[in-house]
Amino acid sequence: MTIKVYGLLVLVSTASLQVAGTIPLCAFEPPSDVANAVAKKETVEQPPPRTHYLGRKIAITMHYTGAPWLVRESREREEDCNALLKALKLKPGQTVCDLGCGNGFYALRIAPLVAPGGKVLGIDIQPEMLRLLRERAKVAKIDNIVPVLGTLSDPNLPTGKVDLVLCIDAYHEFSHPVYMLRAIRKSLAPGGRLVLAEFREEDPNVPIKPLHKMSKKQVLKELVPNGFRLVEQYDGLPWQHLMFFARDEHWQEPATD
Ligand SMILES: C[S@@+](CC[C@H](N)C(=O)[O-])C[C@H]1O[C@@H](n2cnc3c(N)ncnc32)[C@H](O)[C@@H]1O
Repeated sequence: MTIKVYGLLVLVSTASLQVAGTIPLCAFEPPSDVANAVAKKETVEQPPPRTHYLGRKIAITMHYTGAPWLVRESREREEDCNALLKALKLKPGQTVCDLGCGNGFYALRIAPLVAPGGKVLGIDIQPEMLRLLRERAKVAKIDNIVPVLGTLSDPNLPTGKVDLVLCIDAYHEFSHPVYMLRAIRKSLAPGGRLVLAEFREEDPNVPIKPLHKMSKKQVLKELVPNGFRLVEQYDGLPWQHLMFFARDEHWQEPATD
């Protein structure tokens, strides 16, 4: 199967889109020119992207044509999304950022949990993902989701206002992790938290390609030197780590990266 996307040709073989044994569609890896195309569409000049960070190869961006996988019927069973949401202990009135929201699978679930008075900032670098998010929110009659177009290095978050920044299966794709972590840190309200959900690299039974997995050790290796401290973990999800971070108030921003 060939999917044409304006201005660039994205070749997605049907083999890579089919579930083979226990390999889910997440094993779908778009060709690397997709990531380049996403970067080229940026109008704001970006710092050079990293290919690796602290020993980890950064995954290429999941292209929006793969969005149906994010809302697949089996996701609840495979990832126990209800348990993940419960572990977040969301409260009405909170401002939550779904960073790397895709087509809003989680944003739509979170929005009612922070109402009344709360909102979800749904941030993504692909306008097409935000269009899908808007359409899905409209159908679901949800009006407390604010779609925000981020750049590869700046999520365009408000300063000091966000109670929870949630990166579900997204952080491992950030091509500018240091810039993103700085911006997230600045966005947190007092007591605010950053939560990462990443597929467990340590577990060979998690049927996701290695590039799209992260170990707890690697997560800590990257977040601690960027001013975060681990404050909580939930280990009850079938496939993912769920790690909660607070700002490390003793951390000092290095003069250079
Ligand atoms: C694998 S999808 C996960 C989507 C969603 N979190 C979910 O679980 O359904 C990763 C998403 O992160 C987005 N992304 C990658 N780098 C980003 C960045 N620097 N800022 C915001 N979004 C980013 C991609 O465009 C993609 O939509």
